[in-house]
Amino acid sequence: MGNRYSATKTFGILTAGGDCPGLNAAIRGVCRAAYDRYGMNIVGIANGYLGLIQENWRYLRPVDTYGILTRGGTILGASREKPFKAKKGESDSEIEGDKVQAIKDNYKRLNLDCLVVLGGNGTNTTGYLLAREGLNVLGLPKTIDNDIVGTDRTFGFHSALAIGTEAIDRLHSTAQSHSRVIVIELMGHKAGWLALYAGVAGGGDVILIPEIPYDIKAIGRHLEARSGEGKSYSIVVVAEGALSAAEAAMDKKERKKYRVETVNPSIGYRVAREIEEETGMETRATVLGYVQRGGIPSASDRVLATALGTAAADLLAKGKYGRMVALIGDSIDSVDLSVPSEKVKNVPLDHYMLDTALAVGTCLGN
Ligand code: F6P
Repeated sequence: MGNRYSATKTFGILTAGGDCPGLNAAIRGVCRAAYDRYGMNIVGIANGYLGLIQENWRYLRPVDTYGILTRGGTILGASREKPFKAKKGESDSEIEGDKVQAIKDNYKRLNLDCLVVLGGNGTNTTGYLLAREGLNVLGLPKTIDNDIVGTDRTFGFHSALAIGTEAIDRLHSTAQSHSRVIVIELMGHKAGWLALYAGVAGGGDVILIPEIPYDIKAIGRHLEARSGEGKSYSIVVVAEGALSAAEAAMDKKERKKYRVETVNPSIGYRVAREIEEETGMETRATVLGYVQRGGIPSASDRVLATALGTAAADLLAKGKYGRMVALIGDSIDSVDLSVPSEKVKNVPLDHYMLDTALAVGTCLGN
């Protein structure tokens, strides 16, 4: 147990939102450094913010972090509980009052000096709102979507990218054997990072991302041109948030209704149907789904999660709260928690990877 001075004596740690590879590596990084260097007490909160509402927690000792570096998921459990958001049928004020108050009361009851939250946009936004309510909070950026403002990369992304790329690699041979178009749908929520990067890594012939609304006619022309050049098959990589130019022109309500009617069972299947209608080419769809979030973290995610975790412990020791640790360039730094709050980091339209994709002959759907 470490004896360096620490402003933080006891902190709580939780993982919220969708899980991703690297969460356990980050928990291990925070806890090892906090305990071994500074001798802090650590309260592991179960199932995200829900654990702090439902009084579900346990004290963590170094032994709890043995052997978890390479494990997928999160030893703490996760949930999508958003204490500041009302559920259907409940008024905002009722919910806010109860859940946020419960979190504040339990934070006090546990004698926490800080709450460390590992999560995506929603988790860090909740952390920021709790900080505004007077709690000390530190955030860590995790998600396979890579869509958090304030950090150049999130942990989880690299592992999901490797899984997505391997899936695309495997589709090439079956698409070629049957002279088919195969559409693969990847996650990413409202951002196209995962589809763009996996699409480039896997040599996708078409990549559709939410940032560039697609025109099925342009996709059809591209696929037909490939066929005309003697290329018997094509791979189309679709981000789950992809949308057509017609949808992009709709207002929010209209678009929601249109998607309910047409995105069935998911956008990848719709794009496959549209391609078949447009070109007459035999087309199949594959949705990779939760495979992208499961299993062991890549070496790169382990390294990033460990570095962000130990940096969070240093901030705890300094009593520097209200921050999210971040990768900025090649350095580990931190930003104010307001920076990621209530935002999504989309692929900028001048991002070099878009031009890279175009330069190798990939159609981006426009
Ligand atoms: O944010 C990570 C993510 O996997 C997104 O890519 C996806 O849209 C979402 O979570 C799925 O959420 P859930 O686990 O609630 O189905």
